[in-house]
Amino acid sequence: MKKIVISTGGGDAPGLNAVIYAVVKAAHSRDWEVYGSRSGYKGLLDTDELIRLTPDIVADITPTGGTILGSTNKGNPFAMPVENLAGDIQIRDVSDRVMKNFTRMGFFCHIAIGGDGSLEIAHRFATEKGMPVIGVPKTIDNDLKATLLTFGFDTAVSTATEALDKLHSTAKSHDRVMVVEVMGRDSGWIALNSGISGGADIILIPEIPFDVNIICQKISENELYGKHYAIVVVAEGASAINTERICKDKSEIGRQDVLLGGIGEWVAKQIKECAGKDTRSLVLGHLQRGGSPTTFDRLLALRFGAAAVRMAENKSFDKMIALDGSEMKAVNLADAIKGRKKVPLDSDKILTARDIGICFGDAVE
Ligand code: F6P
Repeated sequence: MKKIVISTGGGDAPGLNAVIYAVVKAAHSRDWEVYGSRSGYKGLLDTDELIRLTPDIVADITPTGGTILGSTNKGNPFAMPVENLAGDIQIRDVSDRVMKNFTRMGFFCHIAIGGDGSLEIAHRFATEKGMPVIGVPKTIDNDLKATLLTFGFDTAVSTATEALDKLHSTAKSHDRVMVVEVMGRDSGWIALNSGISGGADIILIPEIPFDVNIICQKISENELYGKHYAIVVVAEGASAINTERICKDKSEIGRQDVLLGGIGEWVAKQIKECAGKDTRSLVLGHLQRGGSPTTFDRLLALRFGAAAVRMAENKSFDKMIALDGSEMKAVNLADAIKGRKKVPLDSDKILTARDIGICFGDAVE
């Protein structure tokens, strides 16, 4: 009987369990056994952390948030933080141990579900250790280049849009400016999609460095037209012209990317000073990663999972499943991890936003 192993790495995203469900069911129909590696590669480092996944175990998980396998963004086996006897943390390469257990368990394929960090690790296992790997793209940020969309994004945008809808009444009742910080790392997709859908006056994204004076000008213009409140959506990776991104933490051991956060509060302070308006800020944070996946995300996740099993059957390794238009397509992992997908400045979403009066904090001719 053929055996495959599946793992979930990086930040969780709604839809992870739906991928696991589809993989288990599609593998079961081919008489293959599926094992889940807990917390990224933990199950491949210590086989006690592997769980046998059967259709019974995954029966009800499709609509649930999170991942039944657990996840981590500090579990890169090529640079793993390990505590030594003296209690100090050292970074060690434990990838050979992973590979040894993979072979010993008799797996013929590893389906790695993750964002760019996890997919890069999967690609290294494929090219440096000869592991037959298939990637499944996951991130609420939607910043993976080789796929039109990732699951988790639609749910995050829906959560953010619902929050904006709710903030309108308070903003209006108190004649206030409400600044909402959303996730997305260095891409403005969540801010842009939720901001347009949720009736924002101003959207600040990493792709367009902003000028605080232009934001305040927009708020003053609103006042002239009798609108005494404003909703500002700011992506966590956005920054003012000629300033650095604001980071919360640059030094979590074993973490590949910096922890962003704080720009919402900063923007609110600047608006209060220059526009003289009562201003409040809030951070939506991990609410955007939680809850049940939307129908769109469930379907996409189920399609990715089933397609990954078809790829395993066809021995289509060192590749990632992607959404291309409305179809599933296998792309090279090497291409999938080359840079992050940004909002194109000439995209129709940017044009739509400008046409309906949304300001990006930049000067437009
Ligand atoms: O990549 C997903 C994401 O939610 C980003 O939008 C955010 O910057 C980061 O993860 C937060 O990471 P953590 O869960 O470690 O705080």
